[in-house]
Amino acid sequence: MTEKDFSELMQVRRRQQKRSRSAIFTGEQFVLEETDWYLLNLFRLWWHYGMSFLLVPAFAGAMLLAGAQGNRWAVEGGNKLVCSGLLKLTKANIIHARVTAISLHSSEGKPLYQVHYENEDGPGSNFYDIVVIAAQLHDSKNNITFQNFDPPIAEFPGTFHTTVTSIVHGYLNSSYFGFPDPKLFPFASVLTTEAPGLFFNSMDNICPVNLSNTFKRKQPQEAAVWRVHSQHPLEKQELKMLFRSYYSVQVTEWQVCPDYGSVKNLPPIILHDSLFYLNTMEWAASSMEMSAVAARNVALLAYNRWNHDVEKIDQKDLMHKVKTEL
Ligand SMILES: *[C@@H]1O[C@H](CO)[C@@H](O)[C@H](O)[C@H]1NC(C)=O
Ligand SMILES: *[C@@H]1O[C@H](CO)[C@@H](O)[C@H](O)[C@H]1NC(C)=O
Ligand SMILES: *[C@@H]1O[C@H](CO)[C@@H](O)[C@H](O)[C@H]1NC(C)=O
Repeated sequence: MTEKDFSELMQVRRRQQKRSRSAIFTGEQFVLEETDWYLLNLFRLWWHYGMSFLLVPAFAGAMLLAGAQGNRWAVEGGNKLVCSGLLKLTKANIIHARVTAISLHSSEGKPLYQVHYENEDGPGSNFYDIVVIAAQLHDSKNNITFQNFDPPIAEFPGTFHTTVTSIVHGYLNSSYFGFPDPKLFPFASVLTTEAPGLFFNSMDNICPVNLSNTFKRKQPQEAAVWRVHSQHPLEKQELKMLFRSYYSVQVTEWQVCPDYGSVKNLPPIILHDSLFYLNTMEWAASSMEMSAVAARNVALLAYNRWNHDVEKIDQKDLMHKVKTEL
């Protein structure tokens, strides 16, 4: 699907791009700046760290958390419009409620799942032939209990990697980064390496979700909105290191991805005949793209199982077929 098709289908518009430069900070200096001097930068990086630099997990982590750097594709009005657009396209009947339990019944030899939920109007439930769970069942995240299943569906072990996002409206302390004159600070996003004393993973200057043609990114000497990622909530004195002064701070603590070391095996995708668990994929690799692929595969799996098209599932010669078709 082209970007144009996608935009038309979802009725969204691509947000304007604002050029910005990134750099990697060690706590003392910048070791990599995004410039045209690519080779010089690689050389400096190698000089400081050797090639092992690219293997430093903190580096991978920082790149991961850099997330929404300016040059990524973004939707005007916010990327969440893609989710509401998708929901609208499915013409699904949405019940806004929190699922509390799923119990197994049967009807004419076929399983039937009763989904119990709770909302402002109190408890309720509905019966379904196929259920796909797209929420974490690990670490008491959603407290969904499974009733009448034999063998029982137990809670899955595993913990999550937490990160803290602080949205700060204020004046950057460019001195902290070695730029006494804020006007000369050239970066809109800063990643970090693992270094003692460094208390944040990345920070970037963020733009509103709606940009007009005349929008200009705030200059470093002006008050701007910065997004800071850290492992722990920032202490007041840490904020005062990064910012000369600030008007407001909004803090969100969230679980970025599974702690891959915390589980031995991937949880099952098929929990019961027609009861599927989508988030299993996150325990192999956590990204929006992977989740989208997993969702498509679970939909196909559910459809083929429902129609008893077993030869379409786990086709052993699939790779061979794909190759001969190519
Ligand atoms: C931002 O853009 C979206 C999508 O184009 C639009 O629906 C919304 O009203 C806009 N919001 C503002 C504050 O301009
Ligand atoms: C799930 O239950 C546990 C223990 O009762 C509780 O601590 C936790 O807050 C609950 N989680 C949610 C999302 O309700
Ligand atoms: C800014 O950074 C400098 C250099 O690290 C530091 O001495 C100073 O306390 C920081 N904060 C302010 C508000 O200037």
